[in-house]
Amino acid sequence: MLTDEVLREVRELKQDCIVLAHNYQIPEIQEVADFVGDSLGLCRAAQRIDKPYILFCGVDFMAESAALLNPDKTVLMPDLEAHCPMAAQLPAEVLRRAKEEHPDAAVVLYINTRLEARAEADIICTSANAVKIVSSVPEKKVLFGPDANLAWHVQRHVRDKQIIPVPEKGHCITHLLFKREHVERAREEHPEAEVLIHPECTPEVQLLADHICSTEQMVRRVKESSAKEFIIGTEIGLVHRLRREFPDRRFYPLYERAICRTMKMNTWEKFMQQLRERKNVVRIDPGIAERAMLSLQRMLELSA
Ligand code: 13P
Ligand code: SF4
Repeated sequence: MLTDEVLREVRELKQDCIVLAHNYQIPEIQEVADFVGDSLGLCRAAQRIDKPYILFCGVDFMAESAALLNPDKTVLMPDLEAHCPMAAQLPAEVLRRAKEEHPDAAVVLYINTRLEARAEADIICTSANAVKIVSSVPEKKVLFGPDANLAWHVQRHVRDKQIIPVPEKGHCITHLLFKREHVERAREEHPEAEVLIHPECTPEVQLLADHICSTEQMVRRVKESSAKEFIIGTEIGLVHRLRREFPDRRFYPLYERAICRTMKMNTWEKFMQQLRERKNVVRIDPGIAERAMLSLQRMLELSA
C-alpha cells in the first residue's frame, strides 16, 4: 500500500507525464498508472497522449510502439534493459530468410518482436486480435512469429490459411511454465471456476481452457461472466489487478510461480527515479522507424 505522502509526490511529478503500465506490472505501479492494459490497449492509449512525457512500464517492444506513435514526445522506461526474451527469438535475418523461402506468404508478426524484424512485416498483431488480423490478409500462406503457441491458436481458428511459424518453436518462457497438471489440479480444487488461458500457453494447456484470452480480454470476461471464481492462466500481475477490481470474485493463479522476470525489472524505486530524473529515454533507429510504424498503423486501423 502506498502512503498518502508518496501518492502526493507521484501526483506532483506526474503533472507533465502520462504513466502507461502493462497488466503484469507490480501492484504499486498499476495503482498510480494513468492507464493499465494489454498490448493492444496500451497502443491505443499511446495514440491519445496530451503530455510531453510518457513513462512506459512494461517491456521493450511495448515502449517502442509508444515511441513510434509519439515521435514528438519523450518515452521513458524504468529500466531500459527490460527486453522481452520472446521478442529476441526472431532476428530480422531469420525472417528475411523465411520470406525468401516463402515469397507468396504474408508476414504477420506478434507485437512481441524486435522493431528491426517488425519493419519487415506486412502487419503486426497482439494476442487480442491475432485471429482477426491473420484472417484479414488476402494471402493463403502466412509467416507468423515469433510465438509458435499463438500461431497454433490462430491456425485453430483460421482454417483456410496455412500458418507457418517462424522460428519453428518460438515461445514465452513464463507461459511455458503452465502445464496440463496445473489445470487438472486447479479444476479439481475449484470445480465451479472458469478457466481463462493466455494463447502464449502450449496447445495442450490451451485445449483445457474455457476461454482463450489476452490479458485485457480476461478482465472483460470476468466483468461479463456470472461465475464467482476464476482460474487465471497468465502471469501473476494480472491476478493482482483482478483482485483489486473485482473484490467480490475469487481468483486462483494457475501457477503462482509464473512470474515474468523482465516485467518485474520495473521496480518501484526505478519507477520513481525516472519520474524524477527522466534519463531512460527510448530511442528508435530512424532507419527502421517508418517501416515499423507502417506495420503498427495497419494493425491499429484494422482493430479500430
Ligand atoms: P497481452 O497483450 O495479452 O497483455 O500479452 C502481452 C504479453 O507479453 C503476454 O506475455
Ligand atoms: Fe515477454 Fe513472456 Fe514476459 Fe510477455 S510474459 S513480456 S512474452 S517474457
